[in-house]
Amino acid sequence: MRVARLDSETDFAGWRSAARTLRDAGVAPEAAVWTVSGEGDLFGEPPPTPGVAQHGFTVPKGFMDLAERVILHRSEQRFALLYRLLWRLQAEPNLLRIVSDPDVARARDMASNVNRAAHKMKAFVRLRLVAEGPEETYVAWFEPAHRVVEATAPFFARRYANMNWSILTPDACAHWDRQSLSFTPGADPAEAPTEDALEDYWRTYYASIFNPARLKVDAMQKEMPKRYWRNLPEASLIPALIAAAETRTSAMVAEPPSEPNRRVVRQAQRLSRDGSFEEGAPSSLEEVTAGVDFCRRCDLWRDATQGVAGEGPAKARLMLVGEQPGDQEDLAGHPFIGPAGKVLDWALAEAGVPRAETYVTNAVKHFRHELRGKRRIHQNPTTRHVEACRWWLDGERRIVRPRVIVALGGTAAQAVFGKAVPIAANRGKPLALSDRAQGVVTYHPSYLLRVPDAAEKARAYAAFVEDLKLAWALAA
Ligand code: URA
Repeated sequence: MRVARLDSETDFAGWRSAARTLRDAGVAPEAAVWTVSGEGDLFGEPPPTPGVAQHGFTVPKGFMDLAERVILHRSEQRFALLYRLLWRLQAEPNLLRIVSDPDVARARDMASNVNRAAHKMKAFVRLRLVAEGPEETYVAWFEPAHRVVEATAPFFARRYANMNWSILTPDACAHWDRQSLSFTPGADPAEAPTEDALEDYWRTYYASIFNPARLKVDAMQKEMPKRYWRNLPEASLIPALIAAAETRTSAMVAEPPSEPNRRVVRQAQRLSRDGSFEEGAPSSLEEVTAGVDFCRRCDLWRDATQGVAGEGPAKARLMLVGEQPGDQEDLAGHPFIGPAGKVLDWALAEAGVPRAETYVTNAVKHFRHELRGKRRIHQNPTTRHVEACRWWLDGERRIVRPRVIVALGGTAAQAVFGKAVPIAANRGKPLALSDRAQGVVTYHPSYLLRVPDAAEKARAYAAFVEDLKLAWALAA
């Protein structure tokens, strides 16, 4: 096994150099392990001695363009996938044209996820004035789906060339001083600031990145004359920071280097961030729709196109809850519009229930899937996803206050009732719910599409229509 260590999660130059060395040394993809340590040599072991060097092999430009994008994806497999493609390109020079090849399809899909994340970042970053006066400073907080901060920063530098600004993200922070771009490590997502708290957050952040070892008071006062301090949000911190600098410097020198486990840190950050949601529940369906798209309560948002909230009248008497958006719903942003939606539409029509008078939503608001070749294959959401997303479903229930809630399938029943409710044993009758609505459980329309036996399929479909009739009658 050869271990290739990269400097950072987005170290493209490091990946390219390590990949070239491994390939020239004849190290097969299965024998290479990729890791990000930010320290030490490129290789964990002595560097591979050049073996069967593949001189004369040139990498197609299209591959490098693709690789530059893919490396920004959050998947932990990306370095290995790219190396496998590079390796295969030697024997299969036209590989990248075979879009049905699983490696090629995966890499292309990752590249388009990254492009989408960059596009969203360009569209949704909102810079906010945090310091007035001659040194006006703007700050934004943003959480990109993939690691696109460095790649999109030049766009903001061109667009806001005459402003000082910082874009703070959990991966890296970009800063522009009207002349040059610089980057510092990511800010803490556990403390993602609200719009109003951004200025305070900026002060805290500034204090945390303030490196006393680099402090040069004279130079700092020259760059930032005292008369401007009162206009800068971070200025109130400066005297205390200077006073503490010497002590902190000695402490930093004495401390052994520590390397916290990134996974543990992230998990802790995620959990504490989830907690902060409890402070404000949505009070309108518009808030739900906007909030769902930015939801970070679990990680399904990363590879989904968008969050899909429920749709229907705010005072609908009947609420229908499905499992999660499917492929088509994910692309279009509306619930139940694909094949399962068609089955639901037929059954509603047969049951005499106008869909336009119902509120249709899902237990989980982002599409969980796995890529196989070019196809995005549905994956059941886990209990953790259902629990994380229940916050939105509960919000929708509080706002709409339906008289009857129909859970379509087991996942929806789990979300609606807060416990497992087997469908076959409990369908066809009203069930009590804690919010005084009545509950009905029935089959999921996708199940009706999958039943192999024709007679059983017809029976289950008829039962489904009966359940919808019952729900409509209860809601009347
Ligand atoms: N399946 C669901 O559960 N919900 C949808 O929105 C689409 C398919």
